[in-house]
Amino acid sequence: MSTPLPPILAPSLLAGDHAHLAASARTVEDLGVPWLHLDLMDGHFVPNLTFGPETLAALRRAGSKLFFDTHLMLAEPHRYLEAFAKAGANLISIHIEPAYDHAAALARIRALGCQCGIVLNPGTPAAAIEPVLALVDLVLVMTVQPGFGGQPFRADMLPKLRQIDAWRRDRALKFRLEVDGGIDLATAADCRAAGADTFVAGTSFFRAPDKAAYAASVAQL
Ligand code: DX5
Ligand code: ZN
Repeated sequence: MSTPLPPILAPSLLAGDHAHLAASARTVEDLGVPWLHLDLMDGHFVPNLTFGPETLAALRRAGSKLFFDTHLMLAEPHRYLEAFAKAGANLISIHIEPAYDHAAALARIRALGCQCGIVLNPGTPAAAIEPVLALVDLVLVMTVQPGFGGQPFRADMLPKLRQIDAWRRDRALKFRLEVDGGIDLATAADCRAAGADTFVAGTSFFRAPDKAAYAASVAQL
């Protein structure tokens, strides 16, 4: 039995203050939480818009040293990889659902000096990402339909986590297993039990009255 990876909290800036994103990022950094989750939406792959690579670059210029966990919800993510790498992304995750050369895009992310991740929507079976499992640093299982923060967690995604975790163990792969959508301390614990080790939290983190206690609780999962 392999030891589970230590838990990582990745607060989602989507739930931060969009008039003061650098201040929201600093709130995370000041707590000693190393990761920041950045949600990029194009109005095509998901019915919403957020920000673009210039926002990441501006956060870097404002001094952020956080690990930028960049989640591209884009119909054509392969067209923007250079832009996000140049803007300061550390990890770039792309969805399996749109049709493009996934393996080539993942290799391109690596070549740009970033870690790479593959993401699957709630309606997409685990088998869809099986061919690229050996190519990635992270698998992101969406626990809501992507597009908006503040949606309820989908407990029906837990078997998918267990399946991907079992493949990871059986094949001695090293990728992180991340969950995103409706994560709070209770749903994070359920995901941890199902094999997840990386927890995106938007609403529950930014609304937590005691964010240090929240981060400490995730570290104990
Ligand atoms: C959803 C985004 C999430 C979002 C999660 O489309 O991918 O990262 O910020 O927000 P909460 O934690 O509020 O569900
Ligand atoms: Zn996300």
